[in-house]
Amino acid sequence: MNKIALATTAMFVSAAAIAGDIQLPAPAKTGGKPLNEALAARQTVREFSTSPLTDQELSDLLWAANGYNRPDAKKRTAPTAMNRQEIDLYVCRADGAYLWDSDANVLRQVTDKDLRGFTGRMDQGDKNFALTAPVAIVYVIDFERQKMQSRPQDAFKYACVDCGFIGQNIYLHASSSGLGTVFLGMIKPQELSAALGLPEKRVPLFAQTVGHVK
Ligand SMILES: Cc1cc2nc3c(=O)[nH]c(=O)nc-3n(C[C@H](O)[C@H](O)[C@H](O)COP(=O)(O)O)c2cc1C
Repeated sequence: MNKIALATTAMFVSAAAIAGDIQLPAPAKTGGKPLNEALAARQTVREFSTSPLTDQELSDLLWAANGYNRPDAKKRTAPTAMNRQEIDLYVCRADGAYLWDSDANVLRQVTDKDLRGFTGRMDQGDKNFALTAPVAIVYVIDFERQKMQSRPQDAFKYACVDCGFIGQNIYLHASSSGLGTVFLGMIKPQELSAALGLPEKRVPLFAQTVGHVK
């Protein structure tokens, strides 16, 4: 087992399955629009229907975002600087927030509170699109996994780029599969940290709303 696999396993070994955990079905790794058609259709969407994503849609989305595409080597669909794999994805829905355990493809419930309102156009009150869309994915950087960077600004720089790759994977998966999405700098990091129970070294950086287009 390599260092990343050990770190990831250690992270989840203590996470006892609780009632709210969701085992996702295996992701589909074929199908969808050809890459050039997905590129031609890629766009930001801010109008979503309230219809939830199915477990299959979520599984396909998360795998495309940052799943293992070379499981034997524990490598993923998105690259990371020095292969640190320091970004965790939290899935926020009306019924709570979940850490995606990509090894087991399980959503581990961390709260039953709806945190979607800490993302998106918060100045627009109940017109904030993030409240209508079924899923807000929150990107959390683990600075412990980033600690090879001697200067904090380097760790931050690489973390932002690493989030961007995952974000573009989601944009392309969305356009390939007919979903809508918007990448979000507009988040409330302190409120999200508190609600997700994050330790000091884990910091929400960005979010991404995903749903069916209205
Ligand atoms: C780093 C980054 C942060 C963004 N933050 C927000 C945001 O907070 N709210 C929002 O509505 N759109 C946000 N966007 C989406 C951009 O506004 C959008 O990509 C841009 O208008 C271009 O539109 P397009 O994606 O359809 O090409 C963000 C995009 C990026 C790359």
